Amino acid sequence: MKEVVHELFSEEQINKRIAELAEQISRDYSGKTVHMVCILRGSVFFFTELAKKITVPVTMDFMAASSYGDSTESSGSLEVRKDLDDPLDNLDVLVVEDIIDSGNTLSKIKKMLMGRHAASFKVCTLLDKPARRETEVEVDYVGFQVPDKFMVGYGLDYAQRYRNLPYIGELEFVKE
Ligand code: IMP
Ligand code: MG
Repeated sequence: MKEVVHELFSEEQINKRIAELAEQISRDYSGKTVHMVCILRGSVFFFTELAKKITVPVTMDFMAASSYGDSTESSGSLEVRKDLDDPLDNLDVLVVEDIIDSGNTLSKIKKMLMGRHAASFKVCTLLDKPARRETEVEVDYVGFQVPDKFMVGYGLDYAQRYRNLPYIGELEFVKE
């Protein structure tokens, strides 16, 4: 099978959308400091671009987590491979994700982090694939809604590849 990537959002479109999100976030957090939490690895390009464009003070921390187990089972657990370095007490937390698909990972991350006494807690995702939702989860800022297709690029991977594409595309498998 040959892998073909069909571009859906160009680097220019992504940058424009990130600038809009950053403007909205800067307005919403006026007078505050945003504590940005990067969910590794997929959101890394989005996270840094967004952070550079936010005009209120920003602090940042990083975590790596993935959910596993039967996704139809709400008790499926979250594997935290790298936890945050700092506590969240009294911080205005903005979790930054690459894509919300089933919603299972984010809802578990949310449940875990919301027990850490943040002053406020919001979520920002680059992509949202609502057709695949299994767990309802509130998302405050969305870059783009995408169809039920496999997305790669701008941080998103297939078997760890394609993360470095400067655009976002749909991955198609073609018979050779
Ligand atoms: P969820 O728990 O199903 O919402 O899964 C979210 C995670 O699955 C994301 O953070 C991605 O790492 C991965 N994922 C889901 N859909 C895609 C996709 O279309 N392309 C690449 N990774 C994806
Ligand atoms: Mg991810």
